[in-house]
Amino acid sequence: MASEIAQYIGPVVLLGPPGAGKGTQAKRLVERYGVPQISTGDLLRDNVKRETPLGVEAKCVMTRGELVSDQLVCEMVAGRLRETDCDRGFVLDGFPRTAAQAGWLDAFLENEFFDNACQKLPPIVVRLDLDYNQLVLRITGRRSCPTCGRIYNVHFQPPCTDAICDLDGSPLVTRSDDREEVMKERLNTYDAQTRPVADYYGRQGRVVLVNADQPMGVVAAQIAGMIDARSLLQGTQASPRHF
Ligand code: AP5
Repeated sequence: MASEIAQYIGPVVLLGPPGAGKGTQAKRLVERYGVPQISTGDLLRDNVKRETPLGVEAKCVMTRGELVSDQLVCEMVAGRLRETDCDRGFVLDGFPRTAAQAGWLDAFLENEFFDNACQKLPPIVVRLDLDYNQLVLRITGRRSCPTCGRIYNVHFQPPCTDAICDLDGSPLVTRSDDREEVMKERLNTYDAQTRPVADYYGRQGRVVLVNADQPMGVVAAQIAGMIDARSLLQGTQASPRHF
């Protein structure tokens, strides 16, 4: 299996508002290319659950729908990117989320990551776009499995048995920040602090917009198309599994 997925894809950044489908698409890329998903939201929630010092500090901020400080998040991401499973590339989901985080990431890749990894490829930056009403439906309908992490949606992708994970039978849960009042604050935070990240990459001609209001497989195929096209250009293509 490893030889089938030995493609070097480099860094992939998924931008987009809460509910746009970053986590859903990241999981598909993981399946296709065998590189890790690095979701800062998942890493923070894991810290909250384990009541680490970072988790204790992050908990109140996340409950209000605001952003955890750049310094804490960048330190957490640096630790994760230093792990060897990132060497062929990785999918960043929910990071960078401020212009400062984007600048930090560029510097980290240049000074540390590209020294160790085999090739220097700037991130492929994808912004998933979706209108407000659809975002609300996706966020309020989201359910996830606390055991395997699979994401469902009561409107668009329900489990076979109501509120039970198809894969492992665990009862599905609703994220505490998917409540309506917190969701609105998260969307405001996105507008104020994360839109400038797309501008940051846009000024460098590095951001590609993808219409997220399409079936999941169509969105996934468009993102994979960009990754494969670049791999072809760089001569790093292998034989990824199909969606
Ligand atoms: P985080 O966990 O990153 O949440 P988010 O960005 O708000 O994004 P979501 O996870 O809500 O949405 P998504 O785009 O992944 O959508 P999904 O694929 O699940 O962050 C949570 C909090 O942590 C933040 O508020 C902040 O406090 C903190 N934080 C995280 N990163 C940080 C950072 N870098 N700096 C500072 N603080 C940070 O899909 C949503 C639903 O839609 C699902 O039900 C899915 O099934 C459905 N769906 C997906 N695609 C489709 C489709 N094509 N058609 C129909 N339904 C679809």
